Amino acid sequence: MSQYQIAVIVGSLRKDSFNRELANAIVKLAPPEFTFEQVQIGDLPLYNQDDDENQAEPVIRLKNEIKGAQGLLFVTPEYNRSIPGVLKNAIDHASRPHGQNAWAGKPAGVLGASIGVMGTAMAQQHLRNILTFLGVPTLGQPEAFIHVTDGLFDEAGNIGADSKQFLQNWMDQFVAWVKKHAS
Ligand SMILES: Cc1cc2nc3c(=O)[nH]c(=O)nc-3n(C[C@H](O)[C@H](O)[C@H](O)COP(=O)(O)O)c2cc1C
Repeated sequence: MSQYQIAVIVGSLRKDSFNRELANAIVKLAPPEFTFEQVQIGDLPLYNQDDDENQAEPVIRLKNEIKGAQGLLFVTPEYNRSIPGVLKNAIDHASRPHGQNAWAGKPAGVLGASIGVMGTAMAQQHLRNILTFLGVPTLGQPEAFIHVTDGLFDEAGNIGADSKQFLQNWMDQFVAWVKKHAS
């Protein structure tokens, strides 16, 4: 059986991040041939093009993790109707130097959770724009704009009963997407 390693990129550094909680919970809905690893982005320096030929160790680590993965799972908050700066910083780092874009060709899924009712819709749209430019085939449907309410997660950190079927379907479609596009 083929194994699929998925790099999970969470766009929040907050200790009690809902998006990290969502990332931790949804991976439990994946089949056994899928494994997930959250990549660290909080220790990356601010991107500076002057450093392209001498990338810092955390940048090289991030790029190796992305290159070693068969797929990508982005789980991000929305900050001021776009993606958080920390996420953009990570994306920019791994896209460089020119011609050495680590993201290219990696099939991706995009999720986000917010305390606001629009559930990160704008952030996800901005992220899709960036991923398209970077050559990342991104799952289009189903979209998942998650509104954080009581019961989204159960006591054990699993997806709660009300959202389980919806997010199981999302995961099933993501799995099929990765299998179709992974090289
Ligand atoms: C700088 C900042 C900007 C925010 N802008 C938005 C926004 O545009 N839309 C939204 O739905 N929530 C916004 N929020 C609220 C976030 O949805 C909320 O803080 C959420 O818990 C962040 O995700 P996390 O729990 O994974 O850290 C913003 C929060 C911060 C700190």
